[in-house]
Order: sequence, then structure tokens, then C-alpha cells
Amino acid sequence: VLGATLMIGVFAGCGSEQAPKKDTIKFAAETTYPPFEFADGDKYQGFDVDLANAIGKETGKKVEFVSMGFDALIPALQSGQIDAIASGMVITKERLEKIDFSDPYYPVNLIMVVKKDNNTVNGEADIAGKTVAAQIGTTGAFLAKEKPGTTVKEFDTIPNMLQDLENGNVEIVMLDEPIAKYFIQVGNMANLKIVPVGLQSHQLGIGVAKNNPELTKEINAALKKMKDNGEYKKLEDKWFGN
Ligand code: ARG
Repeated sequence: VLGATLMIGVFAGCGSEQAPKKDTIKFAAETTYPPFEFADGDKYQGFDVDLANAIGKETGKKVEFVSMGFDALIPALQSGQIDAIASGMVITKERLEKIDFSDPYYPVNLIMVVKKDNNTVNGEADIAGKTVAAQIGTTGAFLAKEKPGTTVKEFDTIPNMLQDLENGNVEIVMLDEPIAKYFIQVGNMANLKIVPVGLQSHQLGIGVAKNNPELTKEINAALKKMKDNGEYKKLEDKWFGN
């Protein structure tokens, strides 16, 4: 019994200690999020994936990239199952209480998507009282839930969510602008449109566990170097055009 008590003490103590040094960075994302991250056969592609690999190159570390639900990312980071989140994740006050973030690496606007013939949703004030869809655990879901009288449907994946809008089950989808553009243009969802009013402007960051400040520092140094040497600009042009 004494041994067991000691063991529990040792494991419980681990959480507050520094993360172990590793020669691999295991990144994770929810991967129905083009052009940031999406599955391509059994591989992943996108801006965040390229950025993760470039960070590996700059830091001299190997990179792994795995997929999981968006709401699973922060718990996975806190438990040490992954080392970093590169998932189009916005730096928010609430998230900063649980995890650290790298320096901002890309700005995004949260917008609304509606059916092309919808003329009743023109701005943030029109969210109240509507049936709204958002991805689970995202800033869009948080904003929708603040509005009086809204029914918020939370989806695990983006295609299912947009399909629900096409089917007329929800009236508004809350989404980051680059992803909405991608699905409407590249994914041929031509009967949907973006409401041309930004709701929130945010900065994306790479999530790192609070007990791993060394990795945050390394990632920041890599980002800075890539911004200075033009590597970052190349990735930006590749995934978002000029
Ligand atoms: N930018 C939004 C947020 O931080 C949504 C991100 C969703 N990312 C994803 N890979 N599905 O809450």
C-alpha cells in the first residue's frame, strides 16, 4: 500500500514538471479544414502541415502530423499525447488559461455562410434567434452560443456542417473565411455565399503545453527565421494565393 501511494505521488507530480526533451515534434490538427489541413490519401496537406514540416527543418527535429477531433486537441496536449497543435487555432484568452501559444502566425476572420438566396442574414445582429451550425469547440460555436435565442448545432467535421446548410436544416454556418472560400470555390458549393461582414478578427497560433516553454521558444525562433528568409511568404502564396 505504501508503494502504491508513493507511485501515485510520483505520477501526480509529473504534470507540473517540464516536458521531456524529444527529437520529434508530434503535431495534431482536425483535418477537414482546407487550405490549413486536409487529408490527401493517407497523408495530410495544407498550410499548417507545410508550416509544421518547415518548423521541423528549422529546429532539426523530426515531425509527425496526426488527426483528431478539434475538441480533443487541447486535452491531448495537456496530457502529453501530442507536442503541438497546428490546427488553424485562434489564440484566445480562455485557451491561454490551459495552454501556451507561439507568436501569431496568420490572421483569420470569422464569418457567416448562408444560402445564396438568403437576404435576411446581413450582420452579427441577425444571428439571434436563428438555427446556427459551428464546428465543436471553435470560436464560431462560442460566439453563436452567446446570442439570445439561438439554437446551436455543433459538428465534428466541416463538410457535414456545410451539407446541413445545403439541406436547409440550419440557416447560418459560422466559419473562418479562408475555409468558407475554399469550400464554395474549390468544393463547388456554388449555392452558398459568404455574408460580407467579418464577425471577429483573430490571430492563429501554434499550441504548446504549458510545461514545454523550450518548444514554444524553438517554434517562435523558427517562425521568425522563416518570415525573415522568405520561406513563410512562399507557403502563404502557395496556399492563399497572392
Ligand atoms: N479558428 C477557429 C478556432 O480557433 C476554428 C479552428 C478549427 N480548426 C480545424 N482544423 N478544424 O476556434
